[in-house]
Amino acid sequence: MTVGTPVKLIVGNWKMNGLTPALEEAHALGQMIEAEPVKARVGLCPPATLIAQMAWKLRGSAVELGGQDCHDKDSGAFTGSVSAPMLADAGARLVILGHSERREGFGETDADVAAKVEAALRAGLEPIICVGESLETREAGDAVAFVTGQVRASLPDSLKDRAFAVAYEPIWAIGTGLTPTLEQIGEVHAAIRAALVERLGDGGRQAPILYGGSMKPDNAADILAVADVGGGLVGGASLKAADFIRILKAA
Ligand code: PGA
Repeated sequence: MTVGTPVKLIVGNWKMNGLTPALEEAHALGQMIEAEPVKARVGLCPPATLIAQMAWKLRGSAVELGGQDCHDKDSGAFTGSVSAPMLADAGARLVILGHSERREGFGETDADVAAKVEAALRAGLEPIICVGESLETREAGDAVAFVTGQVRASLPDSLKDRAFAVAYEPIWAIGTGLTPTLEQIGEVHAAIRAALVERLGDGGRQAPILYGGSMKPDNAADILAVADVGGGLVGGASLKAADFIRILKAA
């Protein structure tokens, strides 16, 4: 790492996967990193049910934990929901917000995501705000306009002086084994950076912009070397410590 190169942020998103025995994978990851530290800043976002136990398993480790969503209210009559203070209380420091599986599957709008970002900031969590286009939008040539529109509308002003990340996750690349070309990734990341600076001024210059969507041990080094790629959001390949560590070592 040359002086001045920002540390990459690489975050595992376990989605709705993982029962108690899966804590051993997190433990194994923590041990691998302890034995041989990686340059990247490492996050793991297990299901909410595992956060507290994982925090205990990983105590003293460099691995930071996160939630995968939160409610925009801090508490109240919202049966089944998990609030940002609850995530923080369980040991989370990060929270993924606006994942396409939330936007598409649960009808979350940009405004909903912005409200959740506010909730995360109130609780002291660092939000990772996801954006990304469908295949239809990409094929229509509208990917950059769509994604930058999501960035503008999903980021509240209050992010200006706060730590956060954006994750660019083309929907058609998630869980499919398909990835955009490095040029396409570079084009969207540059456009997101410009939108962040336009939206937040200097506060938009530092935030890492992660790439997500079929990031694997074999393609991670190339993707992470693209300009303005500040890390990765990794689904399937984060479930096994042996795979995830190879991605972490590529940073
Ligand atoms: P994937 O998922 O790595 O399995 O494609 C990424 C994500 O949805 O965050």
